[in-house]
Amino acid sequence: MKVIRTTQELRLALRDARRGLIPTMGAFHDGHRSLMRAARIECEQVVVSLFVNPAQFGAGEDLVRYPHDEERDARIAQDEGVDVLFVPSAKVMYPDGFATWVDVEASGGEADARPGHFRGVATVCVKLFNLVQPDVAFFGQKDAQQAAVLRRVARDLNSPARLRILPTVRDADGLALSSRNVHLTSEERERALALPRALEAARSADDPVAAARAAMNGLEPEYVELLRIGDATLLTAAARVGATRLIDNVVVEGELG
Ligand code: PAJ
Repeated sequence: MKVIRTTQELRLALRDARRGLIPTMGAFHDGHRSLMRAARIECEQVVVSLFVNPAQFGAGEDLVRYPHDEERDARIAQDEGVDVLFVPSAKVMYPDGFATWVDVEASGGEADARPGHFRGVATVCVKLFNLVQPDVAFFGQKDAQQAAVLRRVARDLNSPARLRILPTVRDADGLALSSRNVHLTSEERERALALPRALEAARSADDPVAAARAAMNGLEPEYVELLRIGDATLLTAAARVGATRLIDNVVVEGELG
């Protein structure tokens, strides 16, 4: 596996092959691994980007305490058969004078809860799509709205990349894996289980939003909403557990294509 930090080196490393891209912010867990595995099966060259993108964090959000361990991440990526780990610096991604943003119109869920968040996500992902020119880009259902917004962006800006959305990987007790889970104390982790449990219990209710709210014992949800993504309807929620913000979702109708 090659670890690459500059755009020139990256260009040289790209082969004329079916290429898969997995954009990440690192602190890999089995959710990231599942995307790497799917890409390894489907693509001849697998590129993983590792960049904690400051542009998608709002003021007062957790950018400064976002977990970092490049050595460990490189070992995991190598283990999963990744060909190129692209680890650009902030200067490489946002050089002095940077002035061009992808301002995608989105509403509901994370779009309303984190103003500017999807602008940062869309901008960095379009840059990564331009740099890597993947045939396929892999995303997790855990961040379903992000994947849906990026599909919109790719269509609107005529990116040839196809976006795959893969199922959320969970711990045995149901908590969705997230890089942010490391911040949870054992007591908070126990409380956090109310999020997946409430969503799961509410998915077949007549009023899933009300049912999920009612089942969220001990957790104060930031939002519980139905979100339409393609042909699927998702029940999505965000909740703060101590200082950590968690999101999760389940499909209530249809299928995420
Ligand atoms: P990050 O949180 O590192 O997630 C990278 C990818 O892994 C995303 O597509 C996310 O949905 C997926 N993922 C995270 N947890 C998962 C889980 N438990 N099961 C399955 N997939 C999971 O999402 C981002 O980074 C950034 O916003 C990024 C797209 C890289 C842009 O900066």
